[in-house]
Amino acid sequence: MTVLAPETGTGSVALSARGLVAGYGDLAVVRDLDVSVSPGEIVALLGPNGAGKSTTLLTLAGQLPPIAGEITWLGTPLTGALHRRARAGLGFVPEERSVIMSMSVRDNLLLGSGGIEPAVELFPELGKLLDRRAGLLSGGEQQMLTLARALARRPRVLLADELSLGLAPIIVDRLFAALRDAVGEFGIGVLLVEQQARRALDVSDRWYLMRRGEVVAAGASDGGLEEIQRLYLADHDESVAS
Ligand SMILES: Nc1ncnc2c1ncn2[C@@H]1O[C@H](COP(=O)(O)OP(=O)(O)OP(=O)(O)O)[C@@H](O)[C@H]1O
Ligand SMILES: [Mg+2]
Repeated sequence: MTVLAPETGTGSVALSARGLVAGYGDLAVVRDLDVSVSPGEIVALLGPNGAGKSTTLLTLAGQLPPIAGEITWLGTPLTGALHRRARAGLGFVPEERSVIMSMSVRDNLLLGSGGIEPAVELFPELGKLLDRRAGLLSGGEQQMLTLARALARRPRVLLADELSLGLAPIIVDRLFAALRDAVGEFGIGVLLVEQQARRALDVSDRWYLMRRGEVVAAGASDGGLEEIQRLYLADHDESVAS
């Protein structure tokens, strides 16, 4: 189901990490991590609390310096801070909601530089909320705004950390459907951190499972739930497969 965008011209991988060690100061919490994302695919990064998913994303996004290993972008080493990576086409939706609550929906969208129209095309729900202060939106609407703003820029790769956090299942379905549409339409590659494996597998093409700072398994999303459940049952922890 993976669709490769022909315009990349650099082979199939947009973003990859090899032997990545990541953490805080000298404290490595992610070790020897190999992951890659290609245009037009959604890759789920799964794992329980504290596995190192957010640390991985922060490092790929340029908010944390890697301790060791290599990150490549379109085949060349990737360095530089978040804003430089953003200009190159790397989008990042962090774990904490990043809308500016005191500003209107319209102004939040304008901050994203992708414009208002493409965002409202992806989420028509935002159309009637443009003049409302973002702080007055529901949690689900705020997350739609966050995702709309990130996707409207048409990044080559989007890193998204727990879009589903604290949201009702119907909203999560809506967010993931829009994500899938944008990926299909624009050939965006997505690395999607999720704790809810079942939902993540429904929307993704393939998955990595992290545990205690390492990738312990990977596979195609079709049929992946059984393997993930088996791994978790072996660990007496089914929570990820809920
Ligand atoms: N600022 C920090 N300083 C030191 N250690 C940290 C810091 N932030 C996270 N950690 C530790 O790094 C490890 C991985 O955390 P991380 O936030 O990457 O996990 P996660 O997989 O995203 O978990 P969750 O599903 O709960 O969001 C944890 O043991 C955590 O305590
Ligand atoms: Mg996290």
